[in-house]
Amino acid sequence: MNQDQLKQDVARAAVEYITPMLEADTIVGVGTGSTANYFIDFLAEKKGLFDGTVASSEASAERLKSHGIPVYDLNAVDGIRVYVDGADETNPLLQLIKGGGAALTREKIVAACSEEFVCIADESKWVEVLGNFPLPVEVIPMARSYVAREIVKLGGDPVYREGVTTDNGNVILDVHNMQIAKPLALEDAINNITGVVTNGLFAARPADVLLLGTAEGVKTIKSKV
Ligand code: 5RP
Repeated sequence: MNQDQLKQDVARAAVEYITPMLEADTIVGVGTGSTANYFIDFLAEKKGLFDGTVASSEASAERLKSHGIPVYDLNAVDGIRVYVDGADETNPLLQLIKGGGAALTREKIVAACSEEFVCIADESKWVEVLGNFPLPVEVIPMARSYVAREIVKLGGDPVYREGVTTDNGNVILDVHNMQIAKPLALEDAINNITGVVTNGLFAARPADVLLLGTAEGVKTIKSKV
């Protein structure tokens, strides 16, 4: 089974997982990326069973609207019942690296506001130790070089993601060559560098549930944190 099929399988499983939560006033948080795109397409079949969505990127908002699914500004809703999004890596504690699609800041905000965070990923994203995937960091443009030098002091190898501007008007540094033994501490340390908006480690707010697509089927893994 190829990776794309696994992404579709977990997206479909996520819609089934959240269906019992869907009521007239339910707000669903929707992530960004190719797996999240499948989720949006399958969620369209449930349109009308819930109030609407908050999107973690302009791209996802556009896709939701193209299906006729309402999209709200986060400030216009009281809370988010469940947030569904992909990841670039997950460890067994369901701590994640996200931001491959440059949407990490809005993803982190939506995750923070959500009662439950359901991560959907194919098995290639499962790792024992985070860090093979370069860690994205969103940075205020004028601070780019300063932040890069500070990240080098932390042991990373930052690379400017050229040609990419985030939905918030900022730039991305991808930090290579870090084996992240202490995700919570590193998330904090990078976020404390002046000029960093946020980084793509989701350790302080990991996923609550992981739907992992494998050749043997979709596995449901609950957070032990
Ligand atoms: C976007 C993300 C995505 O969730 C992550 O990059 C996974 O993407 P995909 O589902 O395309 O593999 O964090 O910022």
